[in-house]
Amino acid sequence: MKKTDLKALLDEMTMEEKILQLVQLPGATFEEDAAVTGLSDSQIPENVLRLAGSTLGIFGAEKVKKIQKAYVENHPHHIPLLFMLDVIHGHKTVMPCPLGLGATFDPEVARKGAEVQAKEASADGVHVTFSPMGDLVRDARWGRVVESTGEDKFLNGKMVAAMVKGYQGDDLTDTDHVASCVKHFAAYGGAEAGRDYNNVELSEHTLREQYLPAYKEGIDAGARLVMTSFNTLNGIPSSGNKWLMRYILRKEMGFDGVLISDWAAIAEMKNWGIAESLREAAKLAMEAGVDIDMCTESYYANLEDLINSGEIDKSLLDEAVMRVLELKNDLGLFEDPYRGASEEKAKKVTLTAENRAIARDAVRKSLVLLKNEREALPLKVKRIAFIGPYVDEKELRSSWAISCDSKTTVTIQEAATKFFEKTECKVKFAKGCEMLDNNTDLGFNTFTQENLEAENKKLMAKALEVADWADEVVLCLGEHFAQTGESTSKVNLTLSDAQRKLFHEVSKKSKKLVTLIICGRPLVLDEYIEKSDALMISFRPGTEGGNGIIDILSGEYSPSGKLPMSFPYSVGQEPIHYDRYITGRPKPAEGTSIFTTRYLDCPNEPRFCFGYGLTYSKFEISNVKLDKDILTDDAGITATVNVKNTGRVDATQVVQLYIRDMAGSRVRPIKELKGFERVEVKAGDSVDVSFKITEDMLRFFTIKNAFETEHGKFTAYIGFDSDTENGAEFSY
Ligand code: BGC
Repeated sequence: MKKTDLKALLDEMTMEEKILQLVQLPGATFEEDAAVTGLSDSQIPENVLRLAGSTLGIFGAEKVKKIQKAYVENHPHHIPLLFMLDVIHGHKTVMPCPLGLGATFDPEVARKGAEVQAKEASADGVHVTFSPMGDLVRDARWGRVVESTGEDKFLNGKMVAAMVKGYQGDDLTDTDHVASCVKHFAAYGGAEAGRDYNNVELSEHTLREQYLPAYKEGIDAGARLVMTSFNTLNGIPSSGNKWLMRYILRKEMGFDGVLISDWAAIAEMKNWGIAESLREAAKLAMEAGVDIDMCTESYYANLEDLINSGEIDKSLLDEAVMRVLELKNDLGLFEDPYRGASEEKAKKVTLTAENRAIARDAVRKSLVLLKNEREALPLKVKRIAFIGPYVDEKELRSSWAISCDSKTTVTIQEAATKFFEKTECKVKFAKGCEMLDNNTDLGFNTFTQENLEAENKKLMAKALEVADWADEVVLCLGEHFAQTGESTSKVNLTLSDAQRKLFHEVSKKSKKLVTLIICGRPLVLDEYIEKSDALMISFRPGTEGGNGIIDILSGEYSPSGKLPMSFPYSVGQEPIHYDRYITGRPKPAEGTSIFTTRYLDCPNEPRFCFGYGLTYSKFEISNVKLDKDILTDDAGITATVNVKNTGRVDATQVVQLYIRDMAGSRVRPIKELKGFERVEVKAGDSVDVSFKITEDMLRFFTIKNAFETEHGKFTAYIGFDSDTENGAEFSY
């Protein structure tokens, strides 16, 4: 439809029809066939069921087509319904969770994964995915860190942009793609004390320098939607924050797509106590420019009255409706309301060998090796025991892969059986214990305390027998999938008591011990690190988890993942991130540290820093060479290192560029990531890796409240993690 026709359509619509375009209803309402019959036992009025402009949570080609047909036929202007869904890291073929994608340091992995998700979801009738999440995360207590690509704005920005491109492709009418929604605007990851939905207090310079850039990258990549966040930002809930939405998002960032509230976030302004009624909440949200009210009555029950009484201008309504119509139009829904929905196509494009191969490659690249001594990995002994609740576990997704079928997951046991039957090596498996203790609030544990203890005792006995038999044990432990995601904040970043006990008992029996931890957040791992010969992290790996893990454990591939978030020594260090300030009293490396920035009982640094991860080989890096030492506006500096694989196997190393601004009008972080490159180096070979340093990389929100580069000294560091001290100075 042409833009002029859309305008004509808008002019023909009644106020009721317009308002209801701004209402999103939960899928269940439609699944009851409410839209078809106009009847529903829910509390939602009949006209809302008939005319609401979008829905979330429904998928399946047949179902979507049926609902769409009835909806379009019933609609006075035959406007199609928009179907949205949380396709976060997989529709049917589940990729590693976003934190795992962050660990790959490979935006192309994220792009390809998003492309697969879009294709599968679109064939199933989905038009919009509520992904990617651009929230910067620095506090592992917050369960939603699993949905982020990590603690660094630069890495997040690259990943978010890549995902938007993967979901949307170049043309939204192409039915292999879906529209993408960047969320949760803004600074949701800064929730105080890591408690979900909490308030966020941020200075403007930290907000702008650290928290906003990743969303901006997604918007610049063309994301068609943005979602508001649940939190307050400096006292104002996002859905009613006019400055944030109208000024920062729309004006400064130039976003002109659809702004949707998070689930019930408009109505929640009443709970926050910023609005006395839903009517007032609706007014605040409209003024802030929130186009769609997700799943509350705030808009449909109040907008007409607010407009008729003159409290909000009718132009605000038209503006919002037009944005929704434009999105429907860009998706090609006026021409083809069924868009990609096709049972036949869904069968053809879903869980294909190609999709699985993309997922498996992503898993391999996402695994992070934190320790490897006594040549524990790769596995090369004759008798291997895989022990732990993750050995034959199908739920390798996060709680945000909601549309997949976990039966399609390849478990570690399945992959190991297949791989090792072709070798001389014998393998045995044992569960060891149930994954959860009974004291969780997840509702997954069906045992009584007595039964659970008896069951764990039995499982432990078998595990110890198997451990005794083996030359090497791989313990597969981790968090339950439902311990990550929304409303899953934790103050103990540990594993269950049963798993801890299993670990200690098995470690006494094992000749060599590899610990594999499947999780969705950084954990405190000291006791596991100490007693394991090797320790590897798999951030919830998805459908091909088992295969990808065995590819690495067996040595078919060398690990190359790097931590996208710092792993602490202690929960007390949270929030912790590498790009912190040095303070006026830095703790000296040696000597007394009295009256300096320190903990009495813990180092300042994390246990494993951002960007850390081992390979199966050894690498050396040369000093940083700069082609000049003065940066000017028109000529960048090329910084080069030589990276040598001095070990015995071919491996991929992630080379990272960090810059430190030695002095600025505002205090500058001790280091900031400005570039990274994955390089494959054959054993014994070396490669030169170069980064171009340009003026824009040095900009920050200066004392003049503007993004500028200040003259002065800088250090460019190039290394294999954020702790690198391999630097060279230059000035600007
Ligand atoms: C979450 C969003 C999600 C939405 C729709 C909310 O509870 O915060 O991330 O997209 O639900 O399911």
